[in-house]
Amino acid sequence: MTAPNFQQKTPLQPLYCNHDCYWIALNEYYQQTQRQEILAKWTEAEFDSYVVKVLFEKFGDKLDDQPLRVLGVGSSEGNQETLQLKKLKTKFSQISATVIEPSTERISKYQDMVRQNSSDITRIEYSWHNQTFHQFVTSMKAGQKYHFITIIHAIYFVGEVEDSVRKLYELLEPGGIIFLIAITGHTGMGFLMKTFPHLALEKQTPSATTEPQRVKTNYFTNSTVVQSILKKYQMAYTHASSYIESVDLTTYFTEEETTPDTKLMLDFITMTVKFHESEPGEIFNQVMDFIKRYIRVKKSDQGDDKYYFDTECDILVISK
Ligand SMILES: C[S@@+](CC[C@H](N)C(=O)[O-])C[C@H]1O[C@@H](n2cnc3c(N)ncnc32)[C@H](O)[C@@H]1O
Repeated sequence: MTAPNFQQKTPLQPLYCNHDCYWIALNEYYQQTQRQEILAKWTEAEFDSYVVKVLFEKFGDKLDDQPLRVLGVGSSEGNQETLQLKKLKTKFSQISATVIEPSTERISKYQDMVRQNSSDITRIEYSWHNQTFHQFVTSMKAGQKYHFITIIHAIYFVGEVEDSVRKLYELLEPGGIIFLIAITGHTGMGFLMKTFPHLALEKQTPSATTEPQRVKTNYFTNSTVVQSILKKYQMAYTHASSYIESVDLTTYFTEEETTPDTKLMLDFITMTVKFHESEPGEIFNQVMDFIKRYIRVKKSDQGDDKYYFDTECDILVISK
């Protein structure tokens, strides 16, 4: 399908330019898709074999008194990262964790969690960077490298994708692993953004409020693009797994009044503030037609039809 060329009477406001709307929609998206729960289960079942075991075989007896160096990019509140660190801690007694997160609110929550948690994650040496990936890279010590880099649903924000993948790889110790999760380009949101490129146009990231922090985000970035870059530069990787993130759009399709939750999900998947309330026009109709075409209808336990929009996500394990 070629990209539609249309005009909208009222310009649509990118979700990314509205910090509050972005976080509200993201939180609702997390709840609906159960992203955190799905990933926590995956980490519990699979992280050891894909990451811990491999890193231990490579570095277990080579670190001497040095810590395993871990880098988190776009770590947010650290919910996923701390689960990974706990797993790593079972094999590596010393870990230094470098955390990059430009949102002050999110990184503070991560710090609070570490302070309050009595488990193994407190016995890790943290270095906090309340900045963007780009800022971190430009200010870091030359030659610094990491044994493990984790970037979960943050590759969309760190800048031009090819440069970012190459930079991440450069920061990796030989023998190390990059753990990357991203949406695919051929399903759900990734396909929507590809079909309606103006929705995915580069925008400021939600957390970047000050001038030097302004970095563009690019929702054209997806795991399909990342994998083509990895192949281009012959960077070895394993496609460890895929999972689906589903949002419930039932009330848009079945009720006269779309509920606030469904409206928020329409905002999130289109990356547009108040998409549902935007002045109906060609753009709105074409995007909704697209969504309708890819909707999955499923019977609820009560026998009603439920309408889901699914986005597939890939878990990639990149090694050097
Ligand atoms: C969708 S969240 C994912 C958070 C976390 N990795 C997780 O899985 O729960 C993306 C995170 O990337 C952060 N971010 C935005 N722009 C960034 C940038 N330029 N560099 C690094 N992180 C960025 C956001 O503040 C946000 O916390």
